[in-house]
Amino acid sequence: MCGIIGYSGHRPAVPLLLEGLHRLEYRGYDSAGVAFEQGAHLQVVKAAGKLAALEEKLEKVPCMLATAGIGHTRWATHGLPVERNAHPHLSQGGGIAIIHNGIIENFQELKDELLARGHTFLSDTDTEVLAHLIGEERRMADNLGDAFARALRRAHGAYAVVMLAPEELGVIYAARMAAPLLMGVGTGEVFVASDIPAFLPYTREVVFLEDGEIARIEGGRWSVFSLADLSPVEKTVSHVPWDMQAAAKDGYRHFMLKEIMEQPRVIQDCLSGRITESASGHRVCLRELDGLPVPERLHIVACGTSYNAGLWGRQLLEHTGGIPTDLDIASEFRYRDPLLRPQDMVLVISQSGETADTLAALRLAREKGCKVIGLCNVLGSSIAREADVVLYTQAGPEISVASTKAMCSQMTLLALIALYYGQRRQPACADPELLEAIMGLPVLLAGALPAMRQKAEALAVRFSSARSFFYLGRGQYYALALEGALKLKELSYIHAEGYASGEMKHGPIALIDPAFPTFALALDNALFPKVKSNIQEVLARQGRVIALVQERDGKAPDLEVEEMWVLPEAHPVAASFLALPALQLFSYHVADYLGKDVDQPRNLAKSVTVE
Ligand code: G6P
Repeated sequence: MCGIIGYSGHRPAVPLLLEGLHRLEYRGYDSAGVAFEQGAHLQVVKAAGKLAALEEKLEKVPCMLATAGIGHTRWATHGLPVERNAHPHLSQGGGIAIIHNGIIENFQELKDELLARGHTFLSDTDTEVLAHLIGEERRMADNLGDAFARALRRAHGAYAVVMLAPEELGVIYAARMAAPLLMGVGTGEVFVASDIPAFLPYTREVVFLEDGEIARIEGGRWSVFSLADLSPVEKTVSHVPWDMQAAAKDGYRHFMLKEIMEQPRVIQDCLSGRITESASGHRVCLRELDGLPVPERLHIVACGTSYNAGLWGRQLLEHTGGIPTDLDIASEFRYRDPLLRPQDMVLVISQSGETADTLAALRLAREKGCKVIGLCNVLGSSIAREADVVLYTQAGPEISVASTKAMCSQMTLLALIALYYGQRRQPACADPELLEAIMGLPVLLAGALPAMRQKAEALAVRFSSARSFFYLGRGQYYALALEGALKLKELSYIHAEGYASGEMKHGPIALIDPAFPTFALALDNALFPKVKSNIQEVLARQGRVIALVQERDGKAPDLEVEEMWVLPEAHPVAASFLALPALQLFSYHVADYLGKDVDQPRNLAKSVTVE
């Protein structure tokens, strides 16, 4: 969702703000803007649409020498995605500029109060109300920081907010409440941003702000205070190991393609340090979980692609791990009043670690006395910090809005968790064959990916005119069918539905005709006859079929369909790790062939920080 960057240091701020905004583009946005000091005044430039529109406007602004400024990419919540609603927003009279990510829930009440005092508003946003409120509080407060805190104490909801006001030249204030915000501390300069990639070329020293904290940044100096009483807060600076290479396209046309193709390395990194060898063979070692009991019941909670990873992992957690496992979409979990007992555990899965519904589910689980295991990618994210235990997927920064390598790493880690709990139940490894298969994944995948890419590209050209698609799968492939359909819709805007193969005849089969192709995941050798029957039912209704299958004894299985996509023979669980990039590559190439904005699909946000 909205991307935030602020800078105070010794270099011209505007180019740094724009660079930071480009690095935050992946979060999804529909307008952008910056504010910086121009002499003793504030200069605000904003534009609807992509950053290029903002850059074009900035070219016409003379003499941008400011060394402090704020920049924002907006993902519309209150008000249309038009220029007047883009951030920064100004206080009445224009002396204070703010940028904001989140929602001020009581904004209407505050707005009514300010309207009664004669304020006029130029936008439809909750953010402008907050800017005016800070201005109003400034009349009573001792100083700017105090006014910022007083206004924020009256705002209910979620926010990451950054303020710039020429009253204190070269100073920016930042505050956080249930929305991501961190500082990057360089030499003689400090950044504040929604996410690490925004300032990664300049520093890897990070200070994570907590809810209810305010930061004051001036040049290379920074301090943090409590929002409640402005008392100083001690913070530590953490070093993040990510490098620029990981956040660059590396010669690929899109981040998404790069992230798909790097999955062998992602699996390797996820396994790193988590498998040990002893006389009795290999064992999974997840030290983070050693201090917790084996859960009597596990509740997996997640959104989007992370949910699909959870659905995929459930079967392994039950069969290999021996743990009864439930699964919920985070936004449903919190409102269905789930029956949670203290001996249950909740496993929240989130690439960003900031998804609002998943974070709320975590808090609910902790309120009910359950231990929470967080499975996250982003270091120091809210979920990572609030969970009792965090297991990092170690996938490196995922920049493309559509999640790919994150799911691969989540699946890897879920398989390891299942094996780990299996081990805790029995002295020997629960399933040595599965563990060997997982260890062999990087090599298997690296060998298979180039040919898969070619096949996906050829199929994409042939099927890109479809208006709708079915994705069918059984067992663990049902989760992948959901993920395949999700990827196709989010990237190419082609309607797609993922279904459990056996459920087709209970309604959806009515939709089948020659213009409604089916992507059938027929990889499960044990269930192959059943899936084959489901495919026959589609064919009998003149449906076109792409069947994703795996070789058996060096041969393709016996199936007559329009397109057979044959993957190398693999362990049943390993086959999922081949199917996943096949589905991702197919969607990628369809979207690219159709000329869609692959890395930033319309209307989507990478990290959904509002409910
Ligand atoms: C958004 C993203 C998806 C992602 C989902 C959950 O919808 O566009 O790609 O799967 O959020 O995100 P999380 O960071 O919690 O895994």
